[in-house]
Amino acid sequence: MTAQIIDGKAFSTQLRSRVAGHVTRLKEEHGITPGLAVVLVGDDPAPEVYVRNKGRQTIEAGMNSLEHKLPTETSQADLFALIEQLNSDPVIHGILVQLPLPKHLNADLVINAIDTAKDVDGFHVSNVGLLGTGQNAMIPCTPLGCLMVMRGHLGDLSGLEAVVVGRSNIVGKPMAQLLLGDNCTVTIAHSHTRDLASICRRADILVAAIGRPEMIPGDWIKPGATVIDVGINRIARHGKQQLVGDVDFSSAAEIAGAITPVPGGVGPMTIACLLANTVTACCRANGLPAPEGLTL
Ligand code: GUN
Repeated sequence: MTAQIIDGKAFSTQLRSRVAGHVTRLKEEHGITPGLAVVLVGDDPAPEVYVRNKGRQTIEAGMNSLEHKLPTETSQADLFALIEQLNSDPVIHGILVQLPLPKHLNADLVINAIDTAKDVDGFHVSNVGLLGTGQNAMIPCTPLGCLMVMRGHLGDLSGLEAVVVGRSNIVGKPMAQLLLGDNCTVTIAHSHTRDLASICRRADILVAAIGRPEMIPGDWIKPGATVIDVGINRIARHGKQQLVGDVDFSSAAEIAGAITPVPGGVGPMTIACLLANTVTACCRANGLPAPEGLTL
C-alpha cells in the first residue's frame, strides 16, 4: 500500500485565508486591528528565521506585528518589565516569547508572567489547566494544527487508538489532551518507554514528536494508520543539508494509510494557528464572540 500524502500546506493556506477574512471584518465593522508581539532573546539564527516568518505572515494576514529582539544577556527583571508593558498595551492581543530561552532565564516564570488572555502559545499554566479540564483554553499552536489536520483528514476521531511519541509541554502533552478530548484512546510514549515498536504498532493515529531524525521506521506502523510527523530535523545526507521528520518517510509511506511529509506537512500549521489564536484573543478582549473556524 502507498500512503496518501496529507497536504499540510493546503490546510494552512485555508486557515490563513479564514484568519485574513476575520481580520478584514474586525477592521471594517469594529475598527480593530489584531496585534501580535513576538519576543526573541538571543541571536541563534534558527529561531530568528522562524520569528521572521511569523512576522511576515502576521502582516500578510492584515494584522500588526511587533518584534522585540533582546540580547542574550537580558536579565529576568528586564524581560518581566517588557512582558508587563505588553500585557497592559491595548493594541497587543497576543504575546509570544520564543523558546528556548537562554539558560539563565526561568522559562516557566517568564511564560506565567504573560496575561493568560494574551497567551497565544497556550503555555501559561492557567491555559494548560483549562485544556486539561476541557474548558475554554488558548490551545498550543502545533498540536492545534495537528488536530485540525487529523479532523480534516479522518473526520470523527472517536474510539481510535492514538499514540503520541514525545512528552514535551509544547507538543506531546497538549496533543494527548486534545486527542483525549476527541474521544481517542491515548498513549503517551517517550524515551523510557519499553518496546516502543509494539506500542506504535497499535496506533490508528501515530503522532511523532520526539525530535530525533527518522527514528520511527515503517515496520513500527500499523497498516493503514494515519501518521502525523511533527519532527523538523536538519541532517546532512550525500553532502547536502536536508530537512527530515521523526518518521522514516519512505518506509512509512509503504505501510501507512496517510502521512504528513516533512517539509510540507503539519509544519506550516503552527504559524497559521498562531495567527488564528491571535484573532481569537483579539475578539475575546473586545467582548466579541470567538470567530468560526479558527479554533476547535
Ligand atoms: N519554540 C518551538 N516551538 C515554539 C512555539 O510553538 N512557541 C514558542 N514560543 N516557542 C517555540
